[in-house]
Amino acid sequence: MRISVIGCGYLGAVHAASMAKLGHDVVAVDVDPGKIERLAAGEAPFFEPGLPEILTEALASGRIRFTTDMAEVAGSRVHFVAVGTPQGPTGAADLKYVDAAVASLTEHLSAGDFVVGKSTVPVGTAARLAEGVSAAVPGATLVWNPEFLREGFAVQDTIAPDRLVYGVPAGPEGEAAVAALDEVYAVALAEQTPRLVVDLATAELVKVSANAFLATKISFINAMAEIAEVVGADVTALADAIGHDARIGRKFLNAGLGFGGGCLPKDIRAFQARADELGVGESLAFLADVDAINLRRRAHVVDLATTALGGDVTGKRVAVLGLAFKPNSDDVRDSPSLDIAARLHEQGAVVAAYDPEATGTAGRLHPELDYVGSAMEALTGADLVLVLTEWNEFRELDATAVAAVVASPIVIDGRNCLDRDAWRAAGFAHHGMGR
Ligand code: UDX
Repeated sequence: MRISVIGCGYLGAVHAASMAKLGHDVVAVDVDPGKIERLAAGEAPFFEPGLPEILTEALASGRIRFTTDMAEVAGSRVHFVAVGTPQGPTGAADLKYVDAAVASLTEHLSAGDFVVGKSTVPVGTAARLAEGVSAAVPGATLVWNPEFLREGFAVQDTIAPDRLVYGVPAGPEGEAAVAALDEVYAVALAEQTPRLVVDLATAELVKVSANAFLATKISFINAMAEIAEVVGADVTALADAIGHDARIGRKFLNAGLGFGGGCLPKDIRAFQARADELGVGESLAFLADVDAINLRRRAHVVDLATTALGGDVTGKRVAVLGLAFKPNSDDVRDSPSLDIAARLHEQGAVVAAYDPEATGTAGRLHPELDYVGSAMEALTGADLVLVLTEWNEFRELDATAVAAVVASPIVIDGRNCLDRDAWRAAGFAHHGMGR
């Protein structure tokens, strides 16, 4: 099938390459010539396991091309819109990229084409855009097909998603859209992937409510961590115990520094802003607490670090292991780890920071930190060790070898990812989260 993908950021680049991997003929468009040039040369603009391989394969097969020229979408029947919806100054989503992409795309549409929104948007956006598309190009239809990919598993989540959601209008137009999307996702559907056909507003809400739920789950366990810390209980054991209840489940119950990244933080704020606009702000008032609990984790770790260093961090050498918002990613957007590193530096600590993939992205946001090339380099001479992102490399550190190079054996395990007994046996004072 001939497909176009508008926007070559995280979502778009992965979607375009994955569609080519599935055998479709893809044209991918972005307004940024630098990004297009790199992608056309087979270079992934961010760290994502599996992406370089499928990109190279797609380019070699001739099934993908990258361009800045929107006119090249002509001839594709399905056009995915995968541009960003960043947080605006009020917390609401900024729709300027979505609006611009759809407006520019509309100039090149033909009757029978489908515009398929993938970006995360405030509920009501799709209906507004659909009206514009149908008015400009009779016979063209806009539908919404939210994306649930996780960074680090983005290729897998795109090729073999756990569910497909199609938001379509009622009537023959909607039926034709479902048939077109079934053709796009034929491989996943053959694997019995659940497919839900809903209206536009429900499709938009599915995405934001899924992220709101996940954020709430994380903040719930972090709230339990706050209580566990006061009473001397162990939040990890608590999560294991409640997680055995199938209605609760153990996933997303890891207490730690809380959530960051390009989606959960901005999506819960945009959702609240939209609910306020709709006059139902009370329904989502709890998300303000979810956000507040999440942000308190960072302050808590800075406090713990200060106490561990005797009340003043000035001039103390702090080894920061992990800067990305989660492992297997070089993404530092709204990263709790980078935020904590920057706050300690601001308070006078000498921060030596290491991340297997994210020192480059972190350095662009916080050039003032001292980035080093290995964990051992960061650890040597450290007065305090902070493990802030749970990369396997850090889980597997030999605590005895670390004890031999640090100045003072104190570790704050911000993700409860270390073998506490092994670190204690090596002589470390180990501080976990909620344990
Ligand atoms: C998220 C959603 O999972 C995905 O479905 C959506 O499409 C985009 O947003 P992502 O941002 O890649 O994906 O990250 P995710 O794996 O969900 O983790 C988000 C954050 O929560 C990370 O900072 C992670 O460290 C944190 N987290 C996750 C916890 O603190 N505890 C947990 O138990 C799980």
